[in-house]
Amino acid sequence: MTDFIHLEGVHKTFGDGPRAVHAVEDVTLSIDRGEIFGVIGYSGAGKSTLVRLINGLEPVTTGRLVVDGAEVSTMGEKQLRGVRAEIGMVFQQFNLFPSKTVAENVAYPLRVAGWDKERRAARVTELLEFVGLADKANARPPQLSGGQKQRVGIARALARDPKILLADEATSALDPETTRDVLGLLRRVNAELGVTIVVITHEMDVVKYLCNRVAVMELGRVVELGSVYDVFSNPQQDATRRFVGTSLRDRPSPESLRRLAATHPGTLVTVGIQEETGSSTRLMRTLAEHRVDGAIVYGGITEIGERPFGSLTLALTGEPAAIDGALADLRTHTTVHEYPELAGAVPGSPATGSAPPSEGQEQR
Ligand SMILES: Nc1ncnc2c1ncn2[C@@H]1O[C@H](COP(=O)(O)OP(=O)(O)OP(=O)(O)O)[C@@H](O)[C@H]1O
Ligand SMILES: [Mg+2]
Repeated sequence: MTDFIHLEGVHKTFGDGPRAVHAVEDVTLSIDRGEIFGVIGYSGAGKSTLVRLINGLEPVTTGRLVVDGAEVSTMGEKQLRGVRAEIGMVFQQFNLFPSKTVAENVAYPLRVAGWDKERRAARVTELLEFVGLADKANARPPQLSGGQKQRVGIARALARDPKILLADEATSALDPETTRDVLGLLRRVNAELGVTIVVITHEMDVVKYLCNRVAVMELGRVVELGSVYDVFSNPQQDATRRFVGTSLRDRPSPESLRRLAATHPGTLVTVGIQEETGSSTRLMRTLAEHRVDGAIVYGGITEIGERPFGSLTLALTGEPAAIDGALADLRTHTTVHEYPELAGAVPGSPATGSAPPSEGQEQR
């Protein structure tokens, strides 16, 4: 089951000498059959190069690359063509033929593979139904919306029934709602067709919605790798923290913080919400036990891999000692972030008197 796609000490260098570009450096990772694996990183991190290695478009410089039991890193061009046939590819810019109809675009890889006309037509009908574009068979790409174009791109990538689909920034050119649609389709491709998907993105929301596991790339290297939930709830690297931050928007900005402090009496704190130990039920129970009132003033809980995750900012009111006790209790099972910068700044918002949070107690 495991190691469907396996990279071991893989390097990809363009050019040589002092001008050499080390696009991928010493990458070791395994992708399981049937999973949706995310690769996230900033521009130039080496993400596209990594997928071009996996589908045999670029030879590996050094290291070992195995795809479905076949050692791609030692293959010649002819064998590589066989590997490519089993891998579908979806691009940010769709890469459709603008003057061909939707049906002709989807049929293209089948034509190249030598399928006869009747078989092609039957397969194209099936694919267009699957992606919800049966009524657009005779339209041409310029007449389609971005989302529809990407559905055509996905149908074409699936034409030859690939085992693997590589999606390189497949939704980066789309608005948020269309992005959801296309990501929903990719989920169906995985769940209903059993296709293993590798998603390249610079958007953490895409990873959060779609992926089981994620690798974070920086300057050609994988700097973090794990389940999406673990990476979100406990990011280790700065780059990862920044990506997670863009997706969670988990703490009020300094401006909203000042507004909240001015309009809510009490002590503002942001408490992490996670599965089990950090559940909102447990948060409320802890406050009640300490006879502290907590008004929820900011935050949200989302689901990552079907597990709750997020944070709530509360305005706590009660005896200062009781608030300190509640916070100490909460810290034993979740993250608590206080805002010492507000202490004394706003009337009706007394400092709790507790020590400012140390590094380890900070959320994220
Ligand atoms: N064919 C090539 N020849 C020379 N250098 C290349 C080539 N392809 C990529 N590179 C370089 O390798 C590095 C990684 O590029 P890559 O396209 O893999 O990054 P990326 O993570 O996909 O970035 P983006 O998010 O902008 O698409 C960059 O420095 C790039 O300039
Ligand atoms: Mg790229």
